[in-house]
Amino acid sequence: MTQLSTSDLPAVAGLVDHGTNDHGYGVFGLGSFTFERDEYFATVRWPSGHHRISADDFLRAIQRDIAWEFFYGTVNFDGVLGTVNHYGRVDVCAGRFSKEHQAAGMAHTETFPTEVVAEAFLTIADDWTNEGFDPFVAPRETGSAFGRKNGSNPEALRRRRVTAERMVGAPGDEPLRTDDNGHPVNAAFSDVPQDEPVVRAEAGFADELVAFNLFAYLSRSPVTFNPSVVSACRDSLACPTTEEYILPIIHGNDRVEWFIQLSDEMVWEIEDGATGAKRATVVMKAGDVSAMPADIRHQGYSPKRSMLLVWENASTQLPDLIASGTLPSHPDVWSAR
Ligand SMILES: [Fe+2]
Repeated sequence: MTQLSTSDLPAVAGLVDHGTNDHGYGVFGLGSFTFERDEYFATVRWPSGHHRISADDFLRAIQRDIAWEFFYGTVNFDGVLGTVNHYGRVDVCAGRFSKEHQAAGMAHTETFPTEVVAEAFLTIADDWTNEGFDPFVAPRETGSAFGRKNGSNPEALRRRRVTAERMVGAPGDEPLRTDDNGHPVNAAFSDVPQDEPVVRAEAGFADELVAFNLFAYLSRSPVTFNPSVVSACRDSLACPTTEEYILPIIHGNDRVEWFIQLSDEMVWEIEDGATGAKRATVVMKAGDVSAMPADIRHQGYSPKRSMLLVWENASTQLPDLIASGTLPSHPDVWSAR
């Protein structure tokens, strides 16, 4: 996987280091937000309120936000804290999608350049992650996030999403094949066949016709809830991923997003994207396909490690087209036209 390193970055503009607290952890300021953790909890304060999250949940969430480069739309750490991606700028929010926080005057949003939030969050995650805790893997595969400050785990934090220029297996994208990187098959996928397809291209087309075993590729993924872009055709991105336990964030869509459950089973809790009001529970078994509307937020539960293909349209025009009503937020309306 590619590496992201704080040591190569310039000083973080916007992040203020308030020193170390009695638990050994750094205390940080970003704009008018303050971030502090103790032995069990992360606490975020802003001028009109504060919020507490279990330290392991906070680290799993902030790590996805960093690795996904703030993803599409909204990344809710929980029902209170999160970020909204404006693709070049990022809102850091507290209570923005909570009617109760809004009514109490406790909702707060500040906007920063993307690189400022990325560098700030990486610095916080680096400082708050103890040796032995890996926020990217399933709970059964990692040590504890809790206790006093105890070392660090930069190797775990600096994984990033793997992206192919065209398709895994195509010329130039070979290094992305996990087979070639020596990743072992995850124990949960020990029954997945590892044979690769045989490609017989006509002379002169060897670089144009490629194939790979997606199930074998995914069986070797060492992380959970961290999609790889395995093929890109203009704005159409195929982003499969392996899932186990709970999606560490509640993702708020800003476009329609398609899910194809490739193996096992996942349950998705669907809520209104703006208010968090419950909308639906979707149970997806292997082979099921769903289209998640643009105006929802959702969180997935995977009781056993499973494979999910997320199909994204990366067009930068979609959020405005949907927000303005030019395009519908629901794919069934679109298909009925
Ligand atoms: Fe989503």
